[in-house]
Order: sequence, then C-alpha cells, then structure tokens
Amino acid sequence: MSDDKDKKELRVRRIENGTVIDHITSGQALNVLKILGIPSSSHSVVSVLLNSQGKYGNKDVVKIENRELKVREVDRIALIAPNATINIIRNYNVSQKKKVHIPEFVGGIVKCINPNCISNSNEPITSKFNVSVDGENLKLRCAYCGRIISEDIGKHLL
Ligand SMILES: Nc1ncnc2c1ncn2[C@@H]1O[C@H](COP(=O)(O)OP(=O)(O)OP(=O)(O)O)[C@@H](O)[C@H]1O
Ligand SMILES: [Mg+2]
Ligand SMILES: [Zn+2]
Repeated sequence: MSDDKDKKELRVRRIENGTVIDHITSGQALNVLKILGIPSSSHSVVSVLLNSQGKYGNKDVVKIENRELKVREVDRIALIAPNATINIIRNYNVSQKKKVHIPEFVGGIVKCINPNCISNSNEPITSKFNVSVDGENLKLRCAYCGRIISEDIGKHLL
C-alpha cells in the first residue's frame, strides 16, 4: 500500500463497534442519515465521508458507533443507495458484510409523486411500487397509477 493510500484510509478514525455503510451512491449520505434519524433521534457518534474515491468512482461512507441497523432501515437505504454494503464492526474488525437487498416491490415506504394518485387520497391505501434497476439507479412504478419515480427517491420517502 502506498503512503498516499495510507493517508486517505486514516482520514476517519477506526471504530471499535458499530456499523459502516460503505459504497453509498455519491450524494446520498445525507439521505441515509435522515433514514437513520441522525441526529434528531439518535445519540450515536457518526462520521460521514462524502465523495470518497472508491474503486468504481466516488462514493459516500457513513460510520456509526455502537449501533446496528434495523431491517426496515436497511430496506430504505437500498432504495437510495442500491450498491451500499452494510459492514458490522466488532472489536475494530469487519465481522459481517452484507449487500443491501433490492426488493421487487416496496409497500408503505415511498410516497407517489402523482397528487391525484389514489394512494394520496384519504382512502386507507398503502403506497405500492414495482422496483426495477435502471443502470446505477432504481426506477419505481406506482402499482395504482403507473407514475414512475426515477430521481431523488430520497425526497419521497415516507
Ligand atoms: N474498525 C473500523 N472502523 C471504521 N471503518 C472501518 C473499520 N473496519 C473497516 N472499516 C471500513 O469498512 C469498510 C469495509 O471494510 P473492509 O475491510 O471489508 O474493506 P474492503 O475489503 O474494501 O470491502 P469492500 O470490498 O466491501 O469494499 C471500508 O470502508 C473500511 O474502511
Ligand atoms: Mg473497499
Ligand atoms: Zn401513484
């Protein structure tokens, strides 16, 4: 490893226990924090690395001390950062690594962007989308009105 690479890797200090969310689509780290309720409902120490140079272009990284993520949180992260990996850190080492899982359907997680969609009416209807992969990004198709969300999914999370 070159000295240069060493310096880059030392930018953020190692954590003893917690979670590293790696390979986050560049620009999505703040949406990841929002999904995790940071800082408002979490007191964990968090480091955020924006625009870090990864093997496949730029990425963001979020490191959270002393916290493991809930399935529901990981499912939401998958929608805005489909290439993310969740690394569980125990005693300074990666003890578990998982890729986020991209679901075929999402229910009750995203709000349809069509104001006239029945899922946005007063009816007790849970939003539902069909998920497809479009290159680097995901495409969500509303099961009720057919409207497609392909940009800024993070902005439409319920
Ligand atoms: N103790 C630690 N504290 C903080 N970050 C850590 C710690 N251990 C590993 N990491 C970070 O967690 C991520 C995954 O670590 P790992 O050693 O598996 O790297 P990797 O082999 O490059 O993984 P990948 O192939 O998923 O990119 C990296 O971003 C690494 O910098
Ligand atoms: Mg790596
Ligand atoms: Zn709709």
